[in-house]
Amino acid sequence: MSDHDQLKRTDMAYGKDRPKAENPVLVEDLTLRDGHQSLFATRGRTEDMIPVAEMMDDVGFWAVETWGGATFDTMHRFLNEDPWERIRTLKRYIKKTPFSMLLRAQNLVGYRNYADDLARAFVDRAAANGMDIFRTFDALNDYRNFETVVPVIKECGKHFQGCICYTMTEPRMGGDVYNIDYFVNKAKDLEAMGADSICVKDMAGLLAPYDAYDLVKALKAAVKPPIHLHSHFTSGMSPMTHLKAIEAGVDIIDTCMTPYAYRTSHAAIEPLVMTLLGTNRDTGFDINHMAKINETLERDVMPKYKHLLDTSKVSIIDINVLLHQTPGGMLSNLVNQLREMDALDKINEVYKELPKVRKDLGQIPLVTPTSQIVGIQTVNNVLFDDGNERYKMITDQVKDLCYGLYGKTAVPIDTEVQKKALKGYSRGEEPITCRPAEVLDPELPKAQEDVKGLAVDLDDEILYALYPVTGKKFLRWKYGKEEAPTAVRGRTMEDVKRDDELVKKALAGELVPAKTDAPEKSEGLRKFNVFIDNEYFEVGVDEVGGSPVIAYAQQMPMPMQAAPMPAPAAPAAPAAPAPAAAPAAPKKLAEPAPAAVSGTPLSAPMPGMIVNYEKQVGDAVVEGETVVVLEAMKMENALPAPASGTIKAVNYSSGDSVAKGDVLCVIE
Ligand code: CO
Repeated sequence: MSDHDQLKRTDMAYGKDRPKAENPVLVEDLTLRDGHQSLFATRGRTEDMIPVAEMMDDVGFWAVETWGGATFDTMHRFLNEDPWERIRTLKRYIKKTPFSMLLRAQNLVGYRNYADDLARAFVDRAAANGMDIFRTFDALNDYRNFETVVPVIKECGKHFQGCICYTMTEPRMGGDVYNIDYFVNKAKDLEAMGADSICVKDMAGLLAPYDAYDLVKALKAAVKPPIHLHSHFTSGMSPMTHLKAIEAGVDIIDTCMTPYAYRTSHAAIEPLVMTLLGTNRDTGFDINHMAKINETLERDVMPKYKHLLDTSKVSIIDINVLLHQTPGGMLSNLVNQLREMDALDKINEVYKELPKVRKDLGQIPLVTPTSQIVGIQTVNNVLFDDGNERYKMITDQVKDLCYGLYGKTAVPIDTEVQKKALKGYSRGEEPITCRPAEVLDPELPKAQEDVKGLAVDLDDEILYALYPVTGKKFLRWKYGKEEAPTAVRGRTMEDVKRDDELVKKALAGELVPAKTDAPEKSEGLRKFNVFIDNEYFEVGVDEVGGSPVIAYAQQMPMPMQAAPMPAPAAPAAPAAPAPAAAPAAPKKLAEPAPAAVSGTPLSAPMPGMIVNYEKQVGDAVVEGETVVVLEAMKMENALPAPASGTIKAVNYSSGDSVAKGDVLCVIE
């Protein structure tokens, strides 16, 4: 019997009352996590999930993904939302369908391996708050990093889904490293660990349809747990890949609702429902019901988010991913980072350097956090290396990777790079071979001590332990110790309407030009990027006595065009004080070192956020010694002293955002 015969149509009924299929494909919906993470920078707000939550619960999904990955980070950092609260809130609306989360194994929902005590507490609290399925992966496919979290998932009576990160070194599956035996062996390891299901996690959309067929057949023959496929659309192959995987007997497929589908996200569910209608793998879903969900999303939710969609290209398929194997999120990070540094013209050099860096670092899969680790190091190499020296600026995370702190790489790390990275490394110059968390001291007690009096419960403490700088900031907002900045407020439909009208006026040339006697822009000025077709406006809105006053509306070149965006007129800058001795470090020193300051400035080589200063005013430093740690693209960069001397001025503090070129401190 051919595969096609197995899929032959038995019934053409449309609604939910059609006969149940023999072996329906189970579906996990990713709209509320990976969907908005992939397309809308993870900015989805809980209040915008509620309008469709009950309808989503009625579809009949095997699970809905509601948490994990980048949501924990983004919610507390950019949305002023408590991530734990989201699970509890959504549970009130979605009562039948199990919740799934993406757990980065020992990395939890962060970007490094955390200590065992924190990992245990996190999983335990996630389960207690309502998480049902723990989709667990390790970026290196080193399952020693599962050893702490899996027993906790099991003890809590929850579903342990083990992932194999799908990656390749050849144009198709095969080669010396990532061949079919590699994946089958990984699946056997997961089965031995007690996996309730096994997920092939194809984060970059690299899995080709016929490879998927072979892979699923091989996995089904080798292991018992259900096989689940997570394949991003990025390259355009995933709908075909899904179909071949279904023909090969895959049990569960991941999709999104249409408005959250395609591009770097996932294939939409609706075409799959119609494709399988009346076959022995019919999903059984009601297409009319799904249409209602989409209608609500389009009308009440999408207008608030569409400005976040990267429409710099018309095409929804990125064939670069087939050439460079970079997951969608990583690609947009690279582009953003280069754009912020006015170095977008270097993108082709970055593409060329990327496979070299990946090979040097042990041919690792590219998925969070390894995608960021490889990505930012690649950018650093392209921007800072010269003909004489490679790896001039090595990030702390690359040092950790070389030390073995992330686990075992698929092939050994280049010894030269490893030696250079570990020179003077704080944990030692000899890499470890044990399970990484074995060298990590418990971290929860210290975190609890740090936020005593601020944190109210264990959930708060865990949030702080995972994200000390932004977590503390969030807790201060949460408990009213500090007012949250306007930037963390969500867009409302009124905002959308007002901006649309403004742009309409601007396009019609009806906008009154700013008068010379216009009021000064206040501190509370809110800036909006407004996109209309191929035009892009930056609009500043200043609220005076309750009604917004339009401060300016300025047509901007589209970001993807090489021209740098003109900065909006800055508020009248006060004469920069000369921080000769800087008793109470001045808050901002936006311009390069003013003439009055003597000494050597240490400027930010890239935009980012200050993690901490390792040296303070008055401290002596030796050239090359770390002075300040700057977080850029979620990687921490230890910035060395450009000269020996004494720290004369420290211009920022922990948590401050800085632009490229800002003077972080002065050494004399
Ligand atoms: Co994904």
